Amino acid sequence: MDLKHPLREVCEGGGRFLVPVVNITDASKGPGKKAGGMFYNPAMELDRNISVLFFSASLKNKDPHILDALCASGIRGIRYAREMSMLADTSPCTTLNDANRFSCELAERNALRNSLSPGENIHVRCGKAQAIMCEERFDIIDIDPYGPAVPFLDSAFQGIKHGGIISLTATDTATACGTYQTTCRRRYQATGLRNTLRHEAGLRIVIGHAVRRAAEQDMALEPMLGYWYDHYFRMFFTASRSLSRARKLLEHIFVGAYDPNTGEVAKTLWNPAESAWDTIPKTRGATTFGPYWTGEIINGSTISTMKSLLPSWWDRTDKTKATARILDILSEEAGMPPFFRDTNDIGKMSGVVPKRADIINRLKEAGFAASRTHFSPTGIKTNAATEMLAELSKNPQTF
Ligand SMILES: C[S@@+](CC[C@H](N)C(=O)[O-])C[C@H]1O[C@@H](n2cnc3c(N)ncnc32)[C@H](O)[C@@H]1O
Repeated sequence: MDLKHPLREVCEGGGRFLVPVVNITDASKGPGKKAGGMFYNPAMELDRNISVLFFSASLKNKDPHILDALCASGIRGIRYAREMSMLADTSPCTTLNDANRFSCELAERNALRNSLSPGENIHVRCGKAQAIMCEERFDIIDIDPYGPAVPFLDSAFQGIKHGGIISLTATDTATACGTYQTTCRRRYQATGLRNTLRHEAGLRIVIGHAVRRAAEQDMALEPMLGYWYDHYFRMFFTASRSLSRARKLLEHIFVGAYDPNTGEVAKTLWNPAESAWDTIPKTRGATTFGPYWTGEIINGSTISTMKSLLPSWWDRTDKTKATARILDILSEEAGMPPFFRDTNDIGKMSGVVPKRADIINRLKEAGFAASRTHFSPTGIKTNAATEMLAELSKNPQTF
């Protein structure tokens, strides 16, 4: 088939891929562009790195059946097939699927280019992702769409095997972060938070929505990793058909009230049968948001395994260095409570804007949990109370 569009070669994860030539000035950030019906976004290399590591670290089945449901050039699924066999000593069987026939042709060429044989360990299929997920069952389903993953959730719940992994990308971050509240309410049945905490609140809203949507279908969708980077949210869940587990997960869905004076978040259990907004303890001027997921979003032991797997064959590009950096921050954040305090807000209370590293060290010395957060370069995750933080920033020696 003539692809009718110029292609160029890129290297990622030790593989070589043909991708469409796209006319963008800064390709290292942002959502990327389609060309000739085909798509490639170099900015997502970091996410493809993290995904290779996450799946390799979490594998239970030696020969998993993987679906790259929206594969575009096939780069993602081909990387899983190649790299997981080296990192996790498995023989994955990977299906690359896309609704666009030019993308499918490109994916097939890229599989051959990377010594994978279509029809054997890799299959290329042209059709709606929703259809294939209703027809077959997979150990891993990766949904990496334009915009939200919401249109693919119900079919992913059908297509996943018990104990399998569903990974989702959402690039509608502005919606979930409260810039477009009407859309946020329609799409996620939630209200976003428009302040320093917006990215964490937005990610937790999207996760909470997926958990609720799965519970409707007696499926327990348990978050294993969620992070925000650049223009997208990325989430990994284990999925099991368990009514009781699904019910238990709903105990982590709350609505919140953000107090702009202290930066604190009060919360009340979300109950669809009554308006939690009326019962939430609110201070004057507080902003309500949610429902959102309050449970863990980073599984510490998985992140440690991922760090130990960082492959030697990755070129030392900016994106691979950034991958190692974000894994370091995520491992610090694992087990910390939801939301963070901003050094600027602490400064407003005390009149002094403290250095983040100083505060973290002092808090740890005083026996509190404290860490950086990938959500903000000025954010501190801690279990210390507001008064403690204000006191500390005024006079660090008092600790
Ligand atoms: C953001 S791109 C995927 C990028 C790719 N996963 C990667 O890492 O490079 C989204 C792709 O989804 C395809 N697509 C859109 N709607 C689809 C659907 N309902 N079923 C299957 N593919 C679809 C588009 O043709 C496009 O190639």
